Amino acid sequence: MPLLDSTLPLAAAPMAGGPSSLPLATAVTRAGGFAFLPAGYLSAEAFEADLAAAHGTGQPFGVNLFVPQPGAIAPDTYRAYATTIRGEAEALGVDLLAEPRHDDDAWREKIALLVARPVPVVSLTFGLPDRADIAALRAAGSRVLATVTTPDEARAAEEAGVDGLIVQGPAAGGHSGTFDPRRPIPEVATDTDTADVVRAVAAATRLPLVAAGGVDGPGAVRALLAAGAEAVAVGTLLLRATEAGTSATHRAALADPGFDSTVVTHCFTGRPARALRNGFVERHHAAAPYGYPELHHLTRDLRRAAGRAGDPHRLHLWAGTGWRSAQARPAGEIVRELVAEL
Ligand SMILES: Cc1cc2nc3c(=O)[nH]c(=O)nc-3n(C[C@H](O)[C@H](O)[C@H](O)COP(=O)(O)O)c2cc1C
Repeated sequence: MPLLDSTLPLAAAPMAGGPSSLPLATAVTRAGGFAFLPAGYLSAEAFEADLAAAHGTGQPFGVNLFVPQPGAIAPDTYRAYATTIRGEAEALGVDLLAEPRHDDDAWREKIALLVARPVPVVSLTFGLPDRADIAALRAAGSRVLATVTTPDEARAAEEAGVDGLIVQGPAAGGHSGTFDPRRPIPEVATDTDTADVVRAVAAATRLPLVAAGGVDGPGAVRALLAAGAEAVAVGTLLLRATEAGTSATHRAALADPGFDSTVVTHCFTGRPARALRNGFVERHHAAAPYGYPELHHLTRDLRRAAGRAGDPHRLHLWAGTGWRSAQARPAGEIVRELVAEL
């Protein structure tokens, strides 16, 4: 049985924080692709409302969850970084949280909601949860996919009982799903990096694979399918889509020739993520500690204020290496073009 309920081997990757709107998901599904909706960062109440709205469309879709992280940052380290970035917050008139805040992204509540109202596919990122949670989602009728970035993570996920894998290459935009945030994400040397990871994972497990990371056009989709993936997920290429919920500041930056590279950095959230290199990255990447979700909570209000103020140099501008190919067009056109020559 295929992992995704779609006629095309193409998925809209989950993009938490706004970009993956329900209109985007609907447009991708109508075009024959499969859409993942993000649950990350949402309160249980907000996720319940999104889940109900998505069920209301009558279309199949996937839900993506952030696996809870262990509290990892020492309070002194947190306070030192808060002091380092205080000027950024002051420039936007924002107060920073004085003490580290930890949470589990309402994990238990989201699992309970998905067990009560199952969806065809649930994908996980940031590691593996208890086997019991995977089993509960599967018992409710969902196929469970784990995001992995290495063959070792793939073996661990297979061992934990998932149905398939999202193989995320180092070129991917946004957070890496790496199980170990301190492991350096490999430099992207060539266009085939994600395909290399797909081949290595395919050799390490028998699970079906969806590939993601750095797709910049139909050639990359073909290469990932040829490497052994049964479908390809794209994120960055949909960030400027008409139906996406991407902020105006983020959209403008993606189209701004003044931004000339992407970089993997943990300076915004304490977890590695690929973003356009901007002023905040230049100023703080080197000194930033690890610690998700504490750093996410530390910088959240400042990033929100930057987005509202149209300040792209204090915002996390998530982008994969294919960002220059992201177009401001209807998502259905983007999807159809990506698979036109399969
Ligand atoms: C703005 C943005 C938000 C993202 N949010 C999530 C998320 O909530 N959950 C997740 O598993 N992956 C997330 N990702 C990663 C994507 O699922 C996917 O791996 C990535 O977009 C693929 O690489 P590409 O952006 O080069 O196409 C995000 C990526 C972006 C660009």
